[in-house]
Amino acid sequence: MSIKKYKQRNKETKKQRNKEIKKQRKEFESHGEKETRQYAAGFVKKLNGGEILILEGELGSGKSTFVRGLGKALGIKKTMRSPTFTLMNVYKISGKSKIKNFIHVDAYRLCSVQDLRNIGLFEYIGNKDTVIAIEWGEKLKSLFKKLDLILIKFKHGESESCRLIIN
Ligand SMILES: Nc1ncnc2c1ncn2[C@@H]1O[C@H](COP(=O)(O)OP(=O)(O)OP(=O)(O)O)[C@@H](O)[C@H]1O
Ligand SMILES: [Mg+2]
Repeated sequence: MSIKKYKQRNKETKKQRNKEIKKQRKEFESHGEKETRQYAAGFVKKLNGGEILILEGELGSGKSTFVRGLGKALGIKKTMRSPTFTLMNVYKISGKSKIKNFIHVDAYRLCSVQDLRNIGLFEYIGNKDTVIAIEWGEKLKSLFKKLDLILIKFKHGESESCRLIIN
């Protein structure tokens, strides 16, 4: 087979694979904040600890709302403020759950490994008793290349309170 043909075939296989991955992704349509929180509560059932959730989506697309839903379902009673300025909030979870720490990061103002070191995120990465949720996480994807990441996309829907959550 010629190199040209080989490259072409390779490209097509890749395209097909990407199509299949896309098909496997689930899209949820939320019609309000409450539905986004409920969806997050359902999502918590899939978590075992050790996960890093990369939350991607434009301003106001529901990332923080989703994170609050996760936190509440994990048993956090405290008000969960957005880590816009603190960059990272750490919540301790008491009780029987095997997940003992929930870390909420807002990467909007973060971009280097040094930034991550400064906020102390590395202390939690890879811990089996910790779940990490990172808003604007797509900015850090290349830094986390070797880690197993769960990607969740948020989009504005057609109406004011409609949001699409794709994972
Ligand atoms: N279906 C919905 N799901 C989530 N939030 C919704 C929905 N409909 C309307 N909203 C509103 O949209 C806003 C979502 O804000 P939120 O802080 O969760 O977004 P964000 O993606 O974290 O934004 P930012 O990038 O600024 O951090 C809230 O004001 C919320 O009330
Ligand atoms: Mg937010």
